[in-house]
Amino acid sequence: MAGSAWTSALCKWESPDYEPSLPVSEKSNPLTCDIDRASAESIVKMLHRCDVQMFQEESEGTYQRLLSDQVVKTLAEVAKRAELILKDPQDSLVVLSGCGTSGRLAFLIAARFNRALRQLKQNPVYSYIIAGGDRALLSSQEAPEDDPKLGMLSLKKVCEGKKRVLFVGISCGLSAPFVAGQLDFCLQHPEVYTPVLIGFNPAHQARDEAMPGCTFTFHSVVQRMQEHANAFLINPAVGPEAISGSSRMKGGSATKILLEVVLSAAQAAAFSRTPVTCNGIVQHIGAHKRTVDVTYSECEGIAALVEAAGRSLQGGGCVCYLGWGSLAVLSLMDASECNPTFGADYEDVRGFISGGYAELNINEGSLTSLGPDFCIAHEDFLHLLLPRLTDKDTVLLIYTHCDDVGDVLKLARRVREKMVNLHAFYHQADGDTSAALQQDDINKLCLSTLNITWPAAAMPFCRQNRTLSSVSVPQQWELSTKLVLNAVSTGAHILKGKIYQNHMIDVQVTNSKLYRRATRLLQRLSGRPGPQCEEALLKAIYQVEELTGDIPSCDITTHTHKARSRTKVVPAALVCLLTGCSLVEAESHLKQRPIIREAVEELL
Ligand code: F6P
Repeated sequence: MAGSAWTSALCKWESPDYEPSLPVSEKSNPLTCDIDRASAESIVKMLHRCDVQMFQEESEGTYQRLLSDQVVKTLAEVAKRAELILKDPQDSLVVLSGCGTSGRLAFLIAARFNRALRQLKQNPVYSYIIAGGDRALLSSQEAPEDDPKLGMLSLKKVCEGKKRVLFVGISCGLSAPFVAGQLDFCLQHPEVYTPVLIGFNPAHQARDEAMPGCTFTFHSVVQRMQEHANAFLINPAVGPEAISGSSRMKGGSATKILLEVVLSAAQAAAFSRTPVTCNGIVQHIGAHKRTVDVTYSECEGIAALVEAAGRSLQGGGCVCYLGWGSLAVLSLMDASECNPTFGADYEDVRGFISGGYAELNINEGSLTSLGPDFCIAHEDFLHLLLPRLTDKDTVLLIYTHCDDVGDVLKLARRVREKMVNLHAFYHQADGDTSAALQQDDINKLCLSTLNITWPAAAMPFCRQNRTLSSVSVPQQWELSTKLVLNAVSTGAHILKGKIYQNHMIDVQVTNSKLYRRATRLLQRLSGRPGPQCEEALLKAIYQVEELTGDIPSCDITTHTHKARSRTKVVPAALVCLLTGCSLVEAESHLKQRPIIREAVEELL
């Protein structure tokens, strides 16, 4: 796209006429409307442009952005609240909570900042909550997101006996009932709780849909927060997602940035006599922007990984991430998101972490008893997966030069004995040659190597102090890794034909938000009225040609529960709507054309 056309596409979504009925987080991004036909390299370039939108400045009369004065001021105020808790942690807690990716990031950040406190000989003050419990860190658990009471109860449990709690609820779309229930509870108990909400829609776009057993909606909770002196709303717009509604991408990255900015500022103020300032916060956000730029400057290397992963998925193979440290946590997260996002099988993209559950250190301990999909250690990979792998699968090693590179080399050799499709992705400080020889050996074993080298000036804390700098190294590596892995898994599924234009057609309909999104998508693609689309969706969910009995009168929870055991419901409903054929015929059409995009395009 030429320069000026690109600039106008960059901002097009901000126009009041652009998909006016949708909140920003659900709009489709004009930059990616033909991402489904793009090459691996073009896909990466489009993702870069979308990520750049996170840091765009506020234009007058439109949405507030990450760097808007009001947002920065609120971030500083919240950081000061956290600082108070860090200085006087007795009976106090900072709780981070969310659903899906938002909850996974709550875990990642709480774990890292607790580690930093332990290094300073302080007691941990951070807790995380994820809807669906710890299994949701590693797998798709979408239904608990719809339960406001469950959210409230889990918050109460974590905070038992506490006298002061800074609660940070994360819902990118300002939509998750689970989080709304928690915020409502905080507002009812202001003597203990200070509620903070992180999301990426303006307040008036918060979801205004009744929730089971509640008198409030997400929207009304946000309104109450706006009227409350002791509640904070952090909701800059970051632009529509590259794949519509896929809030794991920009929503997740921006969540990570905001939490790190706030908590780093609080830690520095509490323990390094560096007061919280708006300027410091702006600088820190700027450092994250540079991380995005440095990462995407390796477009070719990222594209090579996208291509390899895409080939594997296209050929019925799988993609395995083998990671070390917190980068491995990001790989587990990325893998777990592929199921709800693309209707992928859990075996399609899998993550493994060196040290397994001992390294992960989650609330509920080891989850291996839940089955093979919860076996996440490298040993599990060696025993359960490697014997079955062939050259049509892709294995990606993910690490930094601060990890045990000797161990990486050992694992690379084991994998290479079995298959050739091995790749490496690692971070390194400019001029750091400590593991150069081993790295050379790893490179020789790999088909491609993506090496992101970070300017030494930005790395003073490597090894000595990896936690308290306002632009700490792990934060950069993690964000960079998240961007690359999101590109790999999204790009691979695009190449597999799971995306039409920039919509996920084969989305799982496993909670109310996804149910509404699916209905909207059917309307958009078929041009049929909403009720007809919902009817087609229900027929596909219940696998019936006619909606009889009590199906139409059941609530969405019943529908989404039923949909958990079904696959390709949205594509099947779409085929029925477009052709007027029966469900059986639609399913057979999809079987003959397993590439969803082609099956749909043929009919459009
Ligand atoms: O319901 C699925 C999902 O969209 C996940 O993909 C996402 O991470 C989660 O919901 C949370 O969404 P939000 O942060 O908007 O509440």
